Amino acid sequence: MKNAIPILTLLTILLPLTVTAGECRDCHQSIAFNESNPRLFYYYNDFTNSVHGVARLACTDCHGGDPSTRDLDKSHVGAMDPVRFDTVTQTCGRCHADEHHGFTTSAHFRLLTEYRNAPNCVTCHGAMDVEVVNPGKIRAACAFCHNPESLTSPDVPERAEANLSRMASILNLKIDLEARATEGSRIWALAEDYLALAGRWHAFDLEAMDAATRRLKAAYRTAAKMLADNPDF
Ligand code: HEC
Ligand code: HEC
Ligand code: HEC
Ligand code: HEC
Ligand code: HEC
Repeated sequence: MKNAIPILTLLTILLPLTVTAGECRDCHQSIAFNESNPRLFYYYNDFTNSVHGVARLACTDCHGGDPSTRDLDKSHVGAMDPVRFDTVTQTCGRCHADEHHGFTTSAHFRLLTEYRNAPNCVTCHGAMDVEVVNPGKIRAACAFCHNPESLTSPDVPERAEANLSRMASILNLKIDLEARATEGSRIWALAEDYLALAGRWHAFDLEAMDAATRRLKAAYRTAAKMLADNPDF
């Protein structure tokens, strides 16, 4: 670690002595990095403001390493191994089993295992600053690779956007109907279909998604009519 000595000196001066030994976060949260190593500072802040930061995930959940020491070298042993492009899918999949399962059935995953250019979880969601891909952003996320120049299925961004927008409007219908539904309503059975469909995204089979999202949207529309006629539906 080439910068270890000056950074350690800085840390000794700037870190409050009350910091408990070991916790990765205690060291990484230091404001001193804003001056000495801005990249480190931004990575940390990206993380704390993300859903994962809010959910109080530990650095070691994704990086491993040794949180019981303040020694720079020892604490970082293997810290980048679980987040390499060929290991990160499994690391994220430990907590996101459904998405991981869907993803392992996709063309993208097959390409990744052949070490070809294909997206993994981080390509679409970010790494330290993970976020959900929303309909406004999906086109750009896919067009990075799927575009007329690359010739890899250039129609993908438009089809993906149409599907995700349909998912969003299904979600709106779902929220609206569930707010009015009784406990025994048939609306709740549709909620299971919705969850199953969300899980299927990660297989990236757009043709199947197209058919399934159209079907579910029609089912919710019908349910909305039934509920309007009969509050106990
Ligand atoms: C004593 C302070 C300190 C502790 C404790 C510490 N880090 Fe770091 N960490 C740093 C510094 C400084 C760097 C930048 C090193 C460089 O630029 O060469 C860094 C770099 C990193 C990197 C970037 C990759 C690398 O190896 O350079 C990761 C990932 C990381 N730390 C994770 C962790 C995790 C996980 C823990 C706890 C198990 C941890 N850190 C504990 C100070 C610390
Ligand atoms: C949800 C998983 C996850 C958690 C939790 C997480 N990280 Fe990361 N982190 C990643 C991934 C993935 C990368 C790889 C970045 C890339 O590929 O661009 C990364 C990269 C980094 C880097 C930059 C390494 C480099 O040189 O490119 C640092 C520094 C870092 N993490 C520190 C931390 C610290 C400190 C914590 C806890 C506060 C933490 N991470 C928590 C997933 C995570
Ligand atoms: C230690 C468990 C854990 C690991 C590992 C993990 N996550 Fe998460 N993830 C969570 C939790 C907890 C949440 C917040 C609760 C929720 O909404 O599901 C979350 C939320 C998310 C969300 C937002 C979901 C939403 O609906 O708002 C995305 C996207 C995400 N994670 C992607 C990733 C990616 C990509 C990785 C790997 C770099 C990863 N996660 C690794 C536990 C984890
Ligand atoms: C090619 C881009 C892409 C890749 C690769 C990808 N995702 Fe996603 N992910 C999406 C899209 C698009 C959505 C939004 C689907 C929705 O809203 O129903 C999403 C949604 C999510 C969510 C939110 C909950 C949900 O299922 O709707 C989580 C968590 C998540 N992904 C985790 C992962 C993990 C873990 C990996 C790797 C195993 C991964 N994603 C790989 C594009 C991707
Ligand atoms: C890092 C590059 C990359 C990104 C980003 C990416 N893909 Fe792909 N994708 C590929 C490659 C390479 C293939 C295989 C070549 C092909 O079939 O066009 C592929 C194949 C596909 C296929 C199969 C095409 C077919 O006709 O069988 C679908 C569907 C797909 N991607 C959807 C998406 C969606 C949706 C997104 C955005 C959420 C996305 N991809 C983002 C690289 C990428």
